[in-house]
Amino acid sequence: MGVTYSPIKGVKLKNSQYDIKDPSLAEAGKQRIEWAYREMPVVKLIRGRFATEKPLKGIRIAACLHITTETANLALTLKEGGADLILCASNPLSTQDDTAAALVNYGIPVNAIKGEDEATYYKHIDTALSNEPQLTVDDGADLVTTLHTKRSDLIRNVIGGTEETTTGVIRLRSLEKAGKLKYPLIAVNDAQTKYLFDNRYGTGQSTIDGITRATNILWAGKKVVICGYGWCGRGIALRARGLGSQVIITEVAPVRALEAVMDGLQVMPLVDAASVGDIFITVSGDKNVIDKVHFQRMKDGAILANSGHFNVEINIPALESLAQSKRRIRSFIDEYTLGNGRNLYLLGEGRLINLAAAEGHPASVMDMSFADQALCLEYIVKNRDSLEPRVYPVPDEIDKQVARLKLQSMGIDIDTLTPEQEEYLTSWEEGT
Ligand SMILES: NC(=O)c1ccc[n+]([C@@H]2O[C@H](COP(=O)([O-])OP(=O)(O)OC[C@H]3O[C@@H](n4cnc5c(N)ncnc54)[C@H](O)[C@@H]3O)[C@@H](O)[C@H]2O)c1
Repeated sequence: MGVTYSPIKGVKLKNSQYDIKDPSLAEAGKQRIEWAYREMPVVKLIRGRFATEKPLKGIRIAACLHITTETANLALTLKEGGADLILCASNPLSTQDDTAAALVNYGIPVNAIKGEDEATYYKHIDTALSNEPQLTVDDGADLVTTLHTKRSDLIRNVIGGTEETTTGVIRLRSLEKAGKLKYPLIAVNDAQTKYLFDNRYGTGQSTIDGITRATNILWAGKKVVICGYGWCGRGIALRARGLGSQVIITEVAPVRALEAVMDGLQVMPLVDAASVGDIFITVSGDKNVIDKVHFQRMKDGAILANSGHFNVEINIPALESLAQSKRRIRSFIDEYTLGNGRNLYLLGEGRLINLAAAEGHPASVMDMSFADQALCLEYIVKNRDSLEPRVYPVPDEIDKQVARLKLQSMGIDIDTLTPEQEEYLTSWEEGT
């Protein structure tokens, strides 16, 4: 489907409304946002409808997302729908500074700078919350957590929110279980049109991309150890195998481990994989997955990268404690020389490598994730009176609609059930 870009007219923001690296990067950012938009036909359709229907008219939104070109196209869609939107980053290393500058130029306040320290990261979340949001859009649940703790005074305004990633959904479910969740949230991550494509093919491709851009290594013949065979792990394994790597999976869930075995991959405990792996990639959503005992067994030259949401999967303090020296040998590569004389190479400070060293997921998958986001936000506003403080799944109709539109945009038709088949599939009487 041909996609043309229709620019949005921005209102000039006051300097106090945003905090970005360099406003002069706006033109470069705009061009990259337009490039991504070409691959986002479903978001484009939604944006067209939002422009006439204005389903978010006057609604204040705080969005804590990776500030990428794809996020920019979601932001422009929400603005087109009438929202009063402010953005902050969901990771200190994932911001594209030119995209942030372009968004400010479009009249959307952004508070995010690539490489910001932790204090600035939380200050930016606080600024986004100062917009007194009625809707929250989160990726990892840092915004929602801040709202439920330090800024609980603002919760009374909130109608609902959405969560983009597995780790965020886990945190929200814990909040709900503890009886402390104060408003309805939709787990966008758990839509089929999200995790089957974004987590699998998006993380699969972009993690390989990030590690390649950071290191320029040859994947063929390398032993690649992937910790976690969830949706992301499967995608990374698929792509690494396609490049000729020997893939080893480590898991804690027996069904997932069995699946990896029957997918033709080697499965073993990490303590055994540690001494044979050339590249280690964590993508488990868990903490201290690669730890002291593993670093001590690794080969000289082993490369360590994380693509899980937080930088806790590789125990960096333990690595620091084992190291006699450390130096930045290349952008995104820190060389740690251990007491045993071996060098280990940590990429992107253990932060999600696909966003730190590359550009995150390709626009074509974010088209579906962000179509889910836009439609779920519209759904929350429409159903605000009936939703309770719970974690809700994405309504099935939204999931199916996004899949239908994506297929349509690709020019692919599918079959429909005949009335006879419909009856057969909903009955129990007919047997052999
Ligand atoms: N980099 C990105 O752009 C990106 C995109 C989507 C999701 N994520 C993040 O990636 C992480 C994984 O997401 P997912 O959707 O694949 O989750 P998932 O729940 O489908 O899979 C995680 C897997 O890790 C396994 N695991 C947990 N602890 C482990 C351990 N100690 N050792 C080995 N395996 C372990 C679990 O059993 C599970 O099979 C999350 O943090 C998620 O938020 C990142």
